[in-house]
Amino acid sequence: MNNLKYYIDKALNEGFALGAFNFNNMESLQAIAEGCKECRSPAIISVSEGALEYMGGKVVKALANAVREDYPFLFLHLDHGKSVEVCKKAIELDFDSVMIDGSALGLEENITITKEVCEMAHPKNILVEGELGQIKGIEDNVEVEKQHYTNPKLAKVFIEKTGVDLLAVAIGTSHGAYKYSGEQTLRFDILSEIEREVGSFPLVLHGASTVDKYYVDQINKFGGKLNNPLGVPRELIVKAVKEHNIVKINTDTDLRLAMTAGVREVLTQNPEVFDLRKYLGKGRENIKELVKDKIENLFFSKL
Ligand code: G3H
Ligand code: 13P
Ligand code: ZN
Repeated sequence: MNNLKYYIDKALNEGFALGAFNFNNMESLQAIAEGCKECRSPAIISVSEGALEYMGGKVVKALANAVREDYPFLFLHLDHGKSVEVCKKAIELDFDSVMIDGSALGLEENITITKEVCEMAHPKNILVEGELGQIKGIEDNVEVEKQHYTNPKLAKVFIEKTGVDLLAVAIGTSHGAYKYSGEQTLRFDILSEIEREVGSFPLVLHGASTVDKYYVDQINKFGGKLNNPLGVPRELIVKAVKEHNIVKINTDTDLRLAMTAGVREVLTQNPEVFDLRKYLGKGRENIKELVKDKIENLFFSKL
């Protein structure tokens, strides 16, 4: 069985990206697993600190192991670990990779904690993702007001000093459903500059949900209130994957929208329903279709 490092290297060499799909409950994880299995694709299954707290470490691990018994090419990842302690917890739970997100700190402090996590993780062959530059929007514990793009020269220093395996870059994406007020663009010039500095190194794109109109419209049709949310245009995701060294694409919001659309649809159309399997089941179907679409048309990931 090939490990995560194998698929990261393969993605870098062959020009595809692994989806890093956040999950928050059994249904969302099952949908991701089934979508990946049908597409014969590896993927990363991510839990944020919030998700880890919501489900509990033991349940997260048990759910991940259960779906991997049926389809093993899913790698468990801690998303946006904000402290060495939470990364340590994920390392103790034998995650495949952890993200230490020191992006809100000064460079030296970010380097110090990222290096510390690498030293804990690497002896267990657990990969570490660091972040340099800040991704706008609301992350779990931190709200980032202004966009701070990744400084290409510092990216090289950061990688050399920390020993990270993957680097999350800030090139104009943001977390959540409201990513843009003006033009929906990404700073590919900064990405190219980073690539010139760091060479062939695996890069990560956070905040990469496309916020497809279909699910937004479904949510609003069935009683929701989303006021013109905007995601990253699909063609920009394809460009990042095909023409750049983005090998991991983080997606959470799109799964939330798909689940919510399904739940709202069933409950609105069938007000008598109170069997949670009926509405969560529809949400699960939606997420599975979404995952398949991303793999086939945006990420091109394969075993
Ligand atoms: O990057 C942020 C993810 O969307 C996680 O969100 O902390 O609300 O689980 P969460
Ligand atoms: P989205 O909010 O665009 O789905 O981004 C998720 C993410 O970056 C998780 O780390
Ligand atoms: Zn993120």
